[in-house]
Amino acid sequence: MEPRVAPSILSADFARLGAQVREVVEAGATVIHVDVMDGHFVPPLSMGPQVVSALRELDLGVELDVHLMVERPERHVADFARAGASNITVHAEATPHVHYAVQQIREAGCTAGVAVCPSTPLGVFTELDADLALCMTVNPGWGGQAFIPSSPEKIARLRQVVGKGVEVEVDGGIDPDTAGPCAKAGASLFVAGSAIFGAEDPAQAFRQIAAATRCGQPY
Ligand code: DX5
Ligand code: ZN
Repeated sequence: MEPRVAPSILSADFARLGAQVREVVEAGATVIHVDVMDGHFVPPLSMGPQVVSALRELDLGVELDVHLMVERPERHVADFARAGASNITVHAEATPHVHYAVQQIREAGCTAGVAVCPSTPLGVFTELDADLALCMTVNPGWGGQAFIPSSPEKIARLRQVVGKGVEVEVDGGIDPDTAGPCAKAGASLFVAGSAIFGAEDPAQAFRQIAAATRCGQPY
């Protein structure tokens, strides 16, 4: 599994969303990260399945990686799958039925991700077989936060638990400086929002982060 960078549209200019996504796709992005927030699991509200449909209609041939920061995410899986999600990730803390949610996501035709907040232990990953394991490297809810310095050590433990062949995703505070340590620890998918869309040249910022991820070994 070669390392890939997933630009998060949370930090994009929503008035020019199509143009911003095209820009990073032309720079080499093959996966776009969509952050869904419900005002309960995390305080802010962000976006819903309509945005996923709109991105799918751009027909850019990219994977749409939907990160559900919502309570009882299993209730929303069908809507996001219908809208065109490729991967749907649910938080382990957001439902007592993580295994059921993973099953539902697969039945809906998507790959299934499970996310953990910084304070959540990794035990859930020994109890189910997710296609993707998301290790939050900030507390979820906002773009532009500082990377939690202890994250690489947790990522290394996560890679041990899930083994090769499972996507280990990192999300929060990823930039050219933090991407390298995460790659060395075993991450394979790197979400970056403000470091890309907050930059003057998002395409160049994307390429810089992508270069920084190549210091790890492919998983
Ligand atoms: C935060 C979201 C992230 C966010 C990352 O809760 O899950 O995907 O967009 O933003 P940056 O890269 O700015 O930390
Ligand atoms: Zn996210």
